[in-house]
Amino acid sequence: LNYQVPRTRKEIFETLVKGLQRLEYRGYDSAGIAVDAPGKGTGKDRDANNNICLIKKKGKVKALDEELYKGSSKDLEEELETHFGIAHTRWATHGEPSPINSHPHRSDKNNEFVVVHNGIITNYKELKKYLNSKGYEFESETDTEVIPKLIKYVYDNREREDMSFTTLVERVIQQLEGAFALVFKSSRYPGQAVATRRGSPLLIGVRSQFALPSENIPIQYNSGRISDGVQERNNWNKTEAGGVEQQEVVDAKAVEYYFASDASAIIEHTNRVIYLEDDDIAAVAKGKLSLHRVSRRTGEDPSRVIQTLQMEMQQIMKGNFDAFMQKEIFEQPESVVNTMRGRICPETGKVILGGLKDHMKEIKRCRRLIMIGCGTSFHAAVATRQILEELTELPVMVELASDFLDRYTPVFRDDVCFFISQSGETADTLMALRYCKERGALTVGITNTVGSSISRDTDCGVHINAGPEIGVASTKAYTSQFVALTMFGLMTSEDRISMQKRREEIIAGLRNLSDLIKKVLELDGKIKSIAQELYQQKSLLVMGRGFNYATCLEGALKIKEITYMHSEGILAGELKHGPLALIDKHMPVIMLIMRDACYTKCQNALQQVTARQGRPIIICSEQDADTMKYAYQTIELPHTVDCLQGILSVIPLQLLSFHLAVLRGYDVDCPRNLAKSVTVE
Ligand code: G6P
Repeated sequence: LNYQVPRTRKEIFETLVKGLQRLEYRGYDSAGIAVDAPGKGTGKDRDANNNICLIKKKGKVKALDEELYKGSSKDLEEELETHFGIAHTRWATHGEPSPINSHPHRSDKNNEFVVVHNGIITNYKELKKYLNSKGYEFESETDTEVIPKLIKYVYDNREREDMSFTTLVERVIQQLEGAFALVFKSSRYPGQAVATRRGSPLLIGVRSQFALPSENIPIQYNSGRISDGVQERNNWNKTEAGGVEQQEVVDAKAVEYYFASDASAIIEHTNRVIYLEDDDIAAVAKGKLSLHRVSRRTGEDPSRVIQTLQMEMQQIMKGNFDAFMQKEIFEQPESVVNTMRGRICPETGKVILGGLKDHMKEIKRCRRLIMIGCGTSFHAAVATRQILEELTELPVMVELASDFLDRYTPVFRDDVCFFISQSGETADTLMALRYCKERGALTVGITNTVGSSISRDTDCGVHINAGPEIGVASTKAYTSQFVALTMFGLMTSEDRISMQKRREEIIAGLRNLSDLIKKVLELDGKIKSIAQELYQQKSLLVMGRGFNYATCLEGALKIKEITYMHSEGILAGELKHGPLALIDKHMPVIMLIMRDACYTKCQNALQQVTARQGRPIIICSEQDADTMKYAYQTIELPHTVDCLQGILSVIPLQLLSFHLAVLRGYDVDCPRNLAKSVTVE
């Protein structure tokens, strides 16, 4: 925020907290705020105290809000002429949820530079080591903390006394790898805000009582040279000047700026926004906005347009999607990349799962792997069992947590037990974890929730980093669990010479995965039309085998969860032993027939179905004419390595269940009788 309109501290808090509340739907585990310390006030002494106060709380925004009002009422009523505050909700990726790990992060005990960050800094370890060697001390376990420390380092070592805030930020982002949206505040630069992004979204809302002189904000380039160069284009967006005196802008006193990662945080203040692009740096100083880049790329538009958003609040939260589940399905090209980010070395093909590396010796020596989960998480175990057996050459058991406990399954000290859980809180899985711990097995968590009970109670683990999942029916967490478990297989088989070719093939497949998922998502229109034919049916069978059997189970689960239709995942190898009795010309059946080692066997199953007048909807490899000629409908999928094909083949079924539920008029995100996190046995 940058107020050029006097506001009380209380109003500033309210605006920031409201913004955070608007983003609560995304999920988070802690919240924080940075504002100017009390006593700043207005009048001629107002720059005398530039201190920044930081307030951070674990848990809900409400807890943060209550904390803010603990100050004296005099402080709350204090009126500030120019003000810039930042606030953030954190969803833990590195380091458990706690006040220290929450944002804003700070450069030092005096809070000279504070920053909020969305994204992941992948080279944070190197930066931290360097900054440590220069005497900068860290207080949190986060990747983010390198950013405020780095900007302080650049500031402490600046070659010119009057170096601008924008220049410092330019220097900082040149050192960062990974994804980020950042907003900086500094007591060294009172009343100024600097924000930038790469890979993570960031927008600026502009609210003015007057018509703005231009709808285009020119970008100021430093032409590869880092300087404070200024170009004056119009009278409301000039930057702080490198030697050039700025003119007073008529309406500057009535402009407010809002930086946010998502329009839903600011839409109640303004619908006029500028979307920043990668490596844009936006600065507000003395009520004026300026945009900067180090240099101009060929063909780049040298300005950013202020757009007027027409969307309703609800729509913005879900983007262009009707439901969170749909949004999450369409996020999968990014979420699988987030699972792999920083974990596969492009040069050496090495897979490094940081949370397991200290236990690799023990894992490689074990006698058996046991994968335990519930619902979709159990299906991720089924989906990856075969590739783990192949890569580790160990026996692999897959277990539903409840059944595993019911059986008092024998577990030994030399077993490695995986607990797969999106939420990390599922009671059955948690109890199975305690059971295995008591028997001395090594316990490994595979969760999407840092700081969850499963991630705390296991000996080691992998965070799948899929981002918050809100729809009760799990989608992106499944594909990310799939990727994480496959990466585990790759990591354990690294020194097996006989496996190298296979490993290379899988790693190449993982690299390509995001693009292929995008291609599968393009089939949405076709899948919707299939849903229109099916939505009044009572029952739907999904059949396949081998690497795609888990897709049948997971697809059938999605369908029953949100459409309330009866649906069954059937192993095609079992067809003759029962399910064939269900087949006639009325029973809808989806068959998965991919070009892998089971192809001929799947063809046989297809013959058995068509011989009984079944009219199969076939999910098959692209241009498989031999299969398609028997189909009533076909969904053609791009080809990938056999053990990853299940990631692509589940997506049409996720989409189908979504469209069926919409056509049947059900609440996709909150199906009846089900909960996102089942914390009771
Ligand atoms: C509930 C949810 C499912 C989920 C299962 C396991 O039943 O409705 O979508 O797959 O729990 O949850 P977890 O958080 O352990 O993966």
